[in-house]
Amino acid sequence: MKLIQTVPEMQAEADRRRAEGRRLALVPTMGALHEGHLALVREAHRHADHVTVSIFVNPTQFAPGEDYEQYPRTLAADLEQLERLGFVDVVFAPSPAAMYPGGPARHRTWVTVEGLDEHLCGRFRPGHFRGVTTVVSKLFLACRPHVAVFGRKDAQQFLILRRMVRDLNFGIELIGVPTVREPDGLALSSRNVYLSPSERAQAVVLSRAVSEARRLAETGEQRTEALVEAMRRALAQAPDARVQYAEVVDTETLQPVEKLEPGREALAAVAVFFGQTRLIDNAFFRIPSDVREG
Ligand code: PAJ
Repeated sequence: MKLIQTVPEMQAEADRRRAEGRRLALVPTMGALHEGHLALVREAHRHADHVTVSIFVNPTQFAPGEDYEQYPRTLAADLEQLERLGFVDVVFAPSPAAMYPGGPARHRTWVTVEGLDEHLCGRFRPGHFRGVTTVVSKLFLACRPHVAVFGRKDAQQFLILRRMVRDLNFGIELIGVPTVREPDGLALSSRNVYLSPSERAQAVVLSRAVSEARRLAETGEQRTEALVEAMRRALAQAPDARVQYAEVVDTETLQPVEKLEPGREALAAVAVFFGQTRLIDNAFFRIPSDVREG
């Protein structure tokens, strides 16, 4: 496993491997790796014969006042976990200066996907998705993968990146891996370490809320209002939860829908604060196409 820290070295490595005829996969991360990330890396291994994992805490996707400074940085432990998998070829871990020469404030070129950031997290994290799409574009241009793997845990991020790749003809296959969870249902997240034991116990309500919404839809409930009410009821079981949003949106437009259409994919998503810690969860679903219109 090779550690690469500059863009030109990464590009040269990718070009060499491409010239050998290898199929390259990239798994972008911000480090503090857990089993959720490792599931993505294993999936990458199934689709390619050269796997790069990038580790970069991207300053441009954190809004002022968010946890950029406090975000856990555990490079040595991350490298150990990836080494142990036995098949990771390259870890690309550039410094902030390598990715943003002159500092992020001097950066001038941005990639934005219009309209898909008006709801869900986009409404509350101004500039967040512009930072994500820009850094992922830069990582694609540095690592030159044929395939890139993302988690559906960050559903809006995945759907926005899927649209970006299509609109800009990146020619990269995107794979969305289902959310990896704790035994009680809590989605694994680098931010779970911030939770107190009581908050950790209460955090189970997020997965209960979105799976209840999915269950209702899959048994024929077409009114999203009923799904949203059910999610709010489930979240209210946690006394310390402050709900930021509970929404049901179409997975193509990321706009709320009033009535679910049979066969069309939708997403139920929630964001909840416990103290300063913000957690998200979601469920993808389709209502059965044999549901009667009415
Ligand atoms: P990060 O939060 O480190 O997540 C890296 C990848 O792991 C993302 O695709 C995310 O969806 C996935 N992931 C996280 N927890 C998961 C879980 N429990 N199950 C499945 N997948 C999970 O997302 C980012 O970093 C950044 O925004 C990034 C794309 C790297 C751009 O900076």
